Amino acid sequence: MKYYAILSAVIILILIAGANINTGIAKADQGQQATAYQQADLKTGAQLYDNWLKITGTKPEGNHPLYPSDAKKSGTSTWRCKECHGWDYIGSKGRYRNGSHFTGITGVYNVRAEKAESLFNGLTRKETQHDFSEYLSRSQVWSLVKFLREGQAAIEPVIDGKGQAKGSAIQGKALYDAQCSSCHGADGNSIDFKSSKEGVQGVGWLAKDNPQESIHKIRWGHPGSKMPSMLADKGLSEQDAIDILTYCQSLYSMEQR
Ligand code: HEC
Ligand code: HEC
Repeated sequence: MKYYAILSAVIILILIAGANINTGIAKADQGQQATAYQQADLKTGAQLYDNWLKITGTKPEGNHPLYPSDAKKSGTSTWRCKECHGWDYIGSKGRYRNGSHFTGITGVYNVRAEKAESLFNGLTRKETQHDFSEYLSRSQVWSLVKFLREGQAAIEPVIDGKGQAKGSAIQGKALYDAQCSSCHGADGNSIDFKSSKEGVQGVGWLAKDNPQESIHKIRWGHPGSKMPSMLADKGLSEQDAIDILTYCQSLYSMEQR
């Protein structure tokens, strides 16, 4: 009897120790993830969302496996987050609900409240077609997760249904002259975005043509260029960014007169 009592006491002790080791590992894991998330960089995440291929210098073969075969784009552009989920982050509910970028894929705006860990898994789970772990480092994925949770902003306060920016052009002019004109010129045309087409397609043109893309660039900068992020590098607010966009649109209107 005594022997059994000792044996079962030993077994119980082993079980308790085992459970402690397990929870210990789980805690260490959580701790590492929390640190990885804290160290992740919002601007990096936003620029990866825009064009991670440019930042990593990778060129995957063919179309992304989730890109619909009847949609209109092909090749590397089909791998960009924005191509499937939109500049306005609302996918098929937003700008890409029709036209040459239509895919029918949902947006990511509603994942803001999701756990960082589950978003991380959604971008790295091996057996899925949505696995980016082959192309992105863990810290890059954490930065994307941070952007998804903390960097996304609603499009409704930015533009109305017709794409007209809702801010103050007067406030925007002062900010534009201070933050943008040194590179893009006072008229917005010093850098031509699409030199193949006739006429200059500068800041004013893009603000009218694609305010959703423009506001993302104003907030976060342009990947692979010296353009700073107004939110992360210059400490401006979302309202400042909207005001800048509004002034940029007025630059184009001035040109048309
Ligand atoms: C080729 C298209 C495509 C690309 C590129 C793409 N995704 Fe997705 N993504 C999808 C599809 C399809 C789903 C599933 C959506 C659904 O359930 O309808 C999805 C789902 C998601 C979800 C979960 C959405 C939800 O509502 O639960 C997140 C977050 C996400 N993607 C982020 C990203 C990020 C970040 C990138 C860039 C690294 C990216 N995606 C690139 C097609 C794409
Ligand atoms: C230090 C120089 C610099 C500053 C300051 C700067 N930009 Fe840029 N911007 C660039 C460069 C370079 C590009 C990339 C152009 C290219 O490769 O087509 C760019 C790209 C852009 C794009 C995207 C074009 C595209 O093809 O998608 C927009 C929109 C833009 N800038 C607007 C602005 C606005 C508005 C400001 C001020 C808030 C600003 N930029 C400040 C240099 C700058």
